[in-house]
Amino acid sequence: MANHASVRKAVVPAAGLGTRFLPATKATPKEMLPVVDKPAIQYVVEEAVTAGLDDILFITGRSKRPLEDHFDRNLELEEVLEEKGDHERLASVTASTNLGRIHYVRQGDPLGLGHAVLMAENHVGDEPFAVLLGDDLIDPRDPVLQDMMAVRAEHGGSVVCLMRVPRETISLYGCPAVETTDRDDVVTITDLIEKPPVDEAPSDYAVIGRYLLDPAVFEVLRSTKPGRGGEIQLTDALRVLATMPAEAGGGVHGFVFDGRRYDTGDRLSYLQAVITLATERDDIGPGLRDWLASFVARM
Ligand code: UTP
Repeated sequence: MANHASVRKAVVPAAGLGTRFLPATKATPKEMLPVVDKPAIQYVVEEAVTAGLDDILFITGRSKRPLEDHFDRNLELEEVLEEKGDHERLASVTASTNLGRIHYVRQGDPLGLGHAVLMAENHVGDEPFAVLLGDDLIDPRDPVLQDMMAVRAEHGGSVVCLMRVPRETISLYGCPAVETTDRDDVVTITDLIEKPPVDEAPSDYAVIGRYLLDPAVFEVLRSTKPGRGGEIQLTDALRVLATMPAEAGGGVHGFVFDGRRYDTGDRLSYLQAVITLATERDDIGPGLRDWLASFVARM
């Protein structure tokens, strides 16, 4: 029988080397880079908790200290802010501590996203779970996990988040071959290719860093050989799941998301994300917009 159980746990891989952001990521995970005034990963954890996933497992690597400290209490800071009566900043400091039940597991060697997900097996057990990547920042005004959960409740198996992207950028993403369903925003995935050349891309859908996975993925990952870039790719495991029968936990659907998403994974997109979000804020937005306008006029 297909597993239609509801999703309760979130896995957040943060053990990648972040080479595109060196030297900033030499001793700090890239997920800790600030997007305006919050680390990227806090947006992701808040998104999970808002969707009802308050059991969060971080897959960490060699530099996990900043992550742990961020989601832990900072008594000294709390005391100072309390004494000053600065309740607004105090609330911003304690917000990340009170988010959910947070757990950590080490990946050891960063052998790829698929390998990172496999590290979650003991904690997750035999239930469906979500995977959220810190590189993709989904605007809190456009929650996508709830829509993905509805697709899973209907079809079972696994669900990935898709966005239409300009064809010439498809080689930056995982790309699925799809069949339509009776809903415009849901497709059945028949195959997947990690970062295909433009002329080999089976569609103009890109896989975005939100997944709901059937626990059958663990067994598939155990036998997944290193793929593109010598890494154990989650895409390759999803490709196998897509062809497996529903009774064995197979079947992959795509939910086509058309909300606001910001890419914080590479330097240019990261800067664009920070500026976009900052200009929309009530506190610093007006000042930044004025300054940007005069800055651009001077260029
Ligand atoms: P990326 O390939 O974007 O991350 O992996 P990276 O390797 O850190 O980035 P660059 O290319 O060197 O700059 C997507 C996500 O998977 C995690 C990363 O932390 C990121 O959130 N990841 C990747 C792991 O946790 N472990 C790995 O072995 C690889």
